[in-house]
Amino acid sequence: MELCTAAVVREIGGPVTVEEIKVDPPQVGEVRIKMLCASICHTDVLCCKGFPIPLFPRMLGHEGVGMIESMGKEVGGGLKPGDIVIPLYLGECGECSNCKTGRTNLCHTLPPPYNGLMNDGTSRASIAKTGERLYHFAGGSTWCDYTVFDFNYVLKIDPKMPLPHASFLSCGFTTGFGATWRESQVNKGSTVAVFGLGTVGLGVISGSKMQGASKIIGVDINAKKAAKGKKFGMTDFINPKDHPNKSISDLVKEITDHGLGVDYCFECTGVPSLLNEALDASKIGIGTVVPIGAGGEPTVAINSLTLFSGRTLKFTTFGGVREVELDELLTHEVRLENIREAFEILKKPDCLKIVINF
Ligand SMILES: NC(=O)c1ccc[n+]([C@@H]2O[C@H](COP(=O)([O-])OP(=O)(O)OC[C@H]3O[C@@H](n4cnc5c(N)ncnc54)[C@H](O)[C@@H]3O)[C@@H](O)[C@H]2O)c1
Ligand SMILES: [Zn+2]
Ligand SMILES: [Zn+2]
Repeated sequence: MELCTAAVVREIGGPVTVEEIKVDPPQVGEVRIKMLCASICHTDVLCCKGFPIPLFPRMLGHEGVGMIESMGKEVGGGLKPGDIVIPLYLGECGECSNCKTGRTNLCHTLPPPYNGLMNDGTSRASIAKTGERLYHFAGGSTWCDYTVFDFNYVLKIDPKMPLPHASFLSCGFTTGFGATWRESQVNKGSTVAVFGLGTVGLGVISGSKMQGASKIIGVDINAKKAAKGKKFGMTDFINPKDHPNKSISDLVKEITDHGLGVDYCFECTGVPSLLNEALDASKIGIGTVVPIGAGGEPTVAINSLTLFSGRTLKFTTFGGVREVELDELLTHEVRLENIREAFEILKKPDCLKIVINF
């Protein structure tokens, strides 16, 4: 059981290979999880390109759901073997100044583990044949039969929840959904624009609808996203490709009252230059822009004139949890051994969420 398979990437942009690995027993405060189902988020594609820090060889995946198989000493949170859990890339100590406010999910003592290692600075997995140590991704990696996480980074869920739904909630959808009410205050009558209708953007639409937004404008260069967006509550759709001579911000303003733009704009494409379009599409003086997707470049430039516009730029990582329209997200399934096919499927226009089965 300690010997199992995992999706591994060895160099920037390198191919993803399925390799036999050895997963060590969980140490103090850790749980070993038998993965039951995982899924792909765009951040995994970025990880293969070396985001946020190029660490190789690396086990991939950060969305998933599994069952606690064994535990090290001093595991808290009432967790026990057999519990169904989802991994989170943010911990919660419950005691630092941020955790105590209840206003944020960004803990000071348990930050996202960007160094690809467990809290004690070591890895729990290695290539079976060579013993080469593997870096984890986002606290533990999920595209593998077994994985190890610090108990502070797992959340026990209702075992009756369908496995793909649970997996989707561990990152993309929740990030968008939570950003509308945890990170910004979309409320009754708000106008909202969402750039990029992947899982994150659809989560934003869903959250905005729940908050009572009166207008939810979806923007995507993939025409197939028009129908999907409507299912989640989008009221208007803009495909910038249909208007090659106009900027996205102008297109958004055209369909808002007095051409003023929206109250809230969420950037969920990951195209860095669109941050400026998002700022321009929001109301001068009072608009709020939440860039969720701009992780593809080390730095992002903002037009200097925008700095004088009184708008708010609110950064975000992850959000709250609730089950909504999750069936609509599932479009494809692959087995772990065929993970490379998944990267091709991701390029298909009708692909939204790929589930990885073990
Ligand atoms: N901040 C966080 O905590 C966090 C969490 C999860 C994901 N992300 C990031 O959010 C982004 C979205 O993730 P996803 O899984 O939904 O991705 P995705 O690839 O499924 O969706 C992106 C969408 O943007 C559209 N798009 C691309 N270029 C465009 C353009 N120029 N104009 C309009 N639309 C365009 C695509 O057609 C696609 O529908 C990624 O950059 C990901 O890394 C951030
Ligand atoms: Zn804390
Ligand atoms: Zn993610």
